[in-house]
Amino acid sequence: MPAVKILFVASEVAPFAKTGGLADVAGALPKALRKLGHDVRVVMPAYRGILSRFSFVRTGGSVQVPVGGFFEHADIWQGAMAGVPVYLLDHPEYFDRHGLYGAAVGDFADNAERFAFFCRGALELCKELDFVPDVIHGNDWQCGLLPVFLRSTYQTDPFFVATGTLFTIHNLGYQGHFAPTLLKLFGLSAELNRIDALEFYGAISLLKGGVVFSDVVTTVSDTYCREIQSPEYGHGFDGILRAQHNRLFGVLNGLDPDDWDPQQLPDHPFSSQDLAGKAACKRALQQELGLKVDAEIPLIVMVSRLDRQKGFELIEDAWDAMMELPVQFALLGSGNRELEERFSARARSHAGRFALTTGFNEDLSRRFYAGGDLFLMPSLYEPCGLSQLIALRYGTLPVVRSTGGLADTILDPQQDPILANGFSFVPYTATALLYCLNRALQHFAAKGAWQKMMRYAMTQEFTWQVAAHRYLELYRLAQEIHHEGRR
Ligand code: ADP
Ligand code: GLC
Repeated sequence: MPAVKILFVASEVAPFAKTGGLADVAGALPKALRKLGHDVRVVMPAYRGILSRFSFVRTGGSVQVPVGGFFEHADIWQGAMAGVPVYLLDHPEYFDRHGLYGAAVGDFADNAERFAFFCRGALELCKELDFVPDVIHGNDWQCGLLPVFLRSTYQTDPFFVATGTLFTIHNLGYQGHFAPTLLKLFGLSAELNRIDALEFYGAISLLKGGVVFSDVVTTVSDTYCREIQSPEYGHGFDGILRAQHNRLFGVLNGLDPDDWDPQQLPDHPFSSQDLAGKAACKRALQQELGLKVDAEIPLIVMVSRLDRQKGFELIEDAWDAMMELPVQFALLGSGNRELEERFSARARSHAGRFALTTGFNEDLSRRFYAGGDLFLMPSLYEPCGLSQLIALRYGTLPVVRSTGGLADTILDPQQDPILANGFSFVPYTATALLYCLNRALQHFAAKGAWQKMMRYAMTQEFTWQVAAHRYLELYRLAQEIHHEGRR
């Protein structure tokens, strides 16, 4: 197969900037595509701190984007991850800020302008580099205007005549709704403010732009792909998605095994063959968090955005009963202020049993994944979830609500006693969570069976290779659909 030329556009890419799993995906999938011999290039904004912490060089080029009758420009910087070229669009007024999408007080007021600029800038980057992509792969609402610009501003531009588009929904809960004045600011036709285009309950939705105007739409697991076509999980988009169902696909994320490797832990490395290091990691974590150092007490850990999506309502409902179980609970999270305050209060009232660390801390997250016995993830919805996959690598068995990607990756002993790698429940209730936790604790007590399950979980492979092949098929489909559409 001839090499496919792919422009991969994302608003966060690990290790350069990260708030969640999208960054993990954007940091890994392009590498997997390159390994298969394809010409993939990544573009993201030059957020604060990237240029000082990573090795990027100015290309000397820049992009010009008309915004409200003036030209805004961004300098282009180039770096790489495992041979994949990464380009940063450097426009300090938009991107040199504390935070990617907002500060503690809320989202930045000019997010629409920032990411509309980013999308058009990414297209201009292709021209500046003379890189004619076969396909442009955009991710989440921040990239929603990519196919919109291509189908309007650049519709007759010979440069992009053969470029197909693929758009991935990582989380339908974030839709990028803004005032229709954005259209005028970016020279887009007011006609786009229609129900069959970007209009969504009186606003314009950038996510809708991505879904409606792209040739192919994907989301990050099969189950989530089905769920989002129902009113319960559709966030108001289920009708729109059902209408696109023949070009909507689920592709399960992978995990970069080199990035999440218990054998690379600095202090107490371990592997499925030698679990001594894992016990040492647990001791060290208990000590670090001020919990009683005791191998026999099951340590439940959670590394998560503090957001309703992640099931905190259930944990709060189940709290009293959970604190009566013979367990320790450690949470590393940041996000919603009120949740942070309520859990801080609990950390004070249940000191020694429950430890809260607020903030985004990757090094500490590794110590959580490595030192825990159980990884709690009772999500209300979960498009894919990478945290449970990371936990598996470190032998920390997930306790999850069976939804979206959690349903596609975690098998409960009640579903399959041989292939089980965690524990799951379906109803979104505290009772179901507690029942599941109790079952997990019974397994923990049966040491031999527990170790067997741990070892099996650690050897499971959720690599990017399978997904990369699937994306290549879908890139081809996107090009076909694009050609059909232009005839
Ligand atoms: P989501 O993208 O919805 O947040 P995922 O499970 O796909 O959920 O990915 C979350 C990613 O972010 C994982 O790599 C996880 O380790 C990381 N993460 C989440 N919260 C924190 C935190 N407070 N500190 C460090 N890493 C975090
Ligand atoms: C989103 C989802 C998460 C998924 C990640 C990467 O943030 O919430 O489930 O794993 O994107 O696709």
